Amino acid sequence: MAKPKVLATRPLFPAAQEILNASCDVQYWTDAERISKQELFARVKDKEGLVCLLTERVDEELLRAAPKLRIAANVAVGFDNIDVAACTKRGVVATNTPGVLDETTADFAWTLMMAAARRLGEGEALARSGNWKGWDLDQLVGADVWGKTLGLVGFGRIGRAVARRALGFQMKVIYSDATRAPAEVEKELKAEYREFNALLAEADFVSLHVPLLPETRGLMDGPKFHRMKASAFLINTSRGPVVDEAALVHALETGKLAGAGLDVYENEPFIHPGLKRANVVLAPHIASGSLETRTKMACIAAENVVAIFKGQRPPNALNPEMLKGK
Ligand code: DGY
Repeated sequence: MAKPKVLATRPLFPAAQEILNASCDVQYWTDAERISKQELFARVKDKEGLVCLLTERVDEELLRAAPKLRIAANVAVGFDNIDVAACTKRGVVATNTPGVLDETTADFAWTLMMAAARRLGEGEALARSGNWKGWDLDQLVGADVWGKTLGLVGFGRIGRAVARRALGFQMKVIYSDATRAPAEVEKELKAEYREFNALLAEADFVSLHVPLLPETRGLMDGPKFHRMKASAFLINTSRGPVVDEAALVHALETGKLAGAGLDVYENEPFIHPGLKRANVVLAPHIASGSLETRTKMACIAAENVVAIFKGQRPPNALNPEMLKGK
């Protein structure tokens, strides 16, 4: 029997290829340049499965171009690039990759927090410049992280993994979330619930861990920055549009905020020029980017695809109502 045809918009990793190739006839996009919309639409036309990245939009327009599609497997936990309702309407199962990237992403939120507070970007540039004149008492003095107050906006798996690391830094951890965590979780992580505005006023580091939803778009805007301490730092490893970048730039320029550590941006890959400042550490959306984790993410996406074609329940369906009876 012919294997189902699948398009993968990246070569993925060997372990994921192995899973997919065993059950599917896969076309991998291997060019260094990412796949153009035109090319994607042309190639997805006869495919039953799609393995895509967060840089590709799976919306009504794509679905119309892919009449045979049964599954769109995103290699990411965030799925704001997928119109799940449109997928459901067209009978396409959409999946993501939750769970495997929490610790890696939490590591990176800490990387940004430490780097921003301790001025690592500036220090690294100076060390490489040939202009370093040696140790000096007030040279590149930054802010302590240990013992400070960490404010987590969003207290799901990643927010909690960030909190766990704070225990070793003797930090006070406060969090805000739409739903309060169970008492045993608060106790284990020594985390205290705060109403959002109270958290902003109290935290020395505000780290964002919310998905991009209509209600979180522009969550951090001018008035919110105004509530933060002028000595505080903003860390964002969630999604760029959660932050109003123009408002962030204004807060940084006017000294309303001490600095920021950013991995994500409002209009990637464009980075607001006002963010390219000494007190902002910038990374190119790599928070989940360890080889181990990215391999696991690709394997999960592959497993989701294979499950569909074996008549099984894909582990990470975003529209599980599509799977009745499986
Ligand atoms: C995700 O998974 O949503 C990240 O942004 C990429 O790892």
